[in-house]
Amino acid sequence: MNVKNILLTGAAGKIGRAVLPELSKAGYSVRALEYTDGLKVDRLPNVEVVTGDLRDPSTAKRLIADMDVVIHMANVKENKELFLDANIKGTFYLLDACKEAGNVKQFIQAGSDARAGIYYYPQPIPIDENHRHSGYPGYYPLSKVLEEVMCEQYQIMYQTPITILRFSWVHDEDDILAHVTLEEPCLGVPVWRDWAVTPEQKAYFKEGKNGVACLVHADGSAGKRHIVSIKDVVKSIMLAIGNPTAIGEAFNVSGPSPFAYDAMANYVAEKLNLPVVRFEVSEFNDFCIEMSKSRSVLGFTPEYDIFRIVDDALAFRAAGKTRSACLYPG
Ligand SMILES: NC(=O)c1ccc[n+]([C@@H]2O[C@H](COP(=O)([O-])OP(=O)(O)OC[C@H]3O[C@@H](n4cnc5c(N)ncnc54)[C@H](O)[C@@H]3O)[C@@H](O)[C@H]2O)c1
Repeated sequence: MNVKNILLTGAAGKIGRAVLPELSKAGYSVRALEYTDGLKVDRLPNVEVVTGDLRDPSTAKRLIADMDVVIHMANVKENKELFLDANIKGTFYLLDACKEAGNVKQFIQAGSDARAGIYYYPQPIPIDENHRHSGYPGYYPLSKVLEEVMCEQYQIMYQTPITILRFSWVHDEDDILAHVTLEEPCLGVPVWRDWAVTPEQKAYFKEGKNGVACLVHADGSAGKRHIVSIKDVVKSIMLAIGNPTAIGEAFNVSGPSPFAYDAMANYVAEKLNLPVVRFEVSEFNDFCIEMSKSRSVLGFTPEYDIFRIVDDALAFRAAGKTRSACLYPG
């Protein structure tokens, strides 16, 4: 597939800002959408920055002209007021503009493992691409399911060339430390403070002491989950672009393997010289994302296991960097 011109929506977001430099370096001509929420898109070679709001149907028509590939990353997360207009109508306007224009060879939609419910439901077997849509409660998972269904229908009704990349929880900067240590910022779920029941656990928050959380089940075994580094996410997007075998397909995009909270917590605790604090979390089911389809069809080999993700986060802090502005952290 001959690909020259790429539209990237959500170009100032967590994933967009990481993939944009790679698209620029690869020599693509990129039209990058900057939203009016104050987050700025980096000005880079081969990148035309266009300002707009996907809730306005005329934006999609304007953006699609002359594009070979659309990479749709713009999204709002857990937001009841905005998700229908920004995510559902926004995706619909883009899909429909592609259908009308007829020039787009591939529409890459950002999916999420949230559409499969991950930790919220028991997951006795690895979650593969055929796992039915079954988001956990919330407007974000609802949105991710509806976006995918719209894409699937456009493929069926109008042969729109869809590729869906279903990312696991994406880790950039020092996200993993923000998640697993008890001090602020507290990123993602579980929110450890909500699971503090013993006097010892409560003291950490009352006295502002830091520690490293280890999620355990009622039987004392460590929780297991599957996440992905931003570096592997960028790699998956670059592999999908222009790949004819990716058309009409959905792919899981996660790390090389799931991790266990005890192994991760012990590693972080040793590096930061902090105590490990165990939290029994009843509302958490272990899950594993099945990666064989992405490996075999896309040639995607994720490289960042939990220890490399932690090492990157430690290096980020050691370099004195500050976390990027983000309207919808997670
Ligand atoms: N970050 C993750 O852990 C993760 C995991 C799985 C899937 N995803 C999916 O990947 C995609 C990108 O995620 P992200 O973390 O980079 O999101 P993000 O919130 O960091 O960025 C989204 C961008 O969309 C833009 N945007 C919001 N409303 C808009 C509108 N009306 N018009 C135009 N632009 C608008 C915002 O400016 C923002 O820059 C999303 O679809 C998300 O659901 C993300």
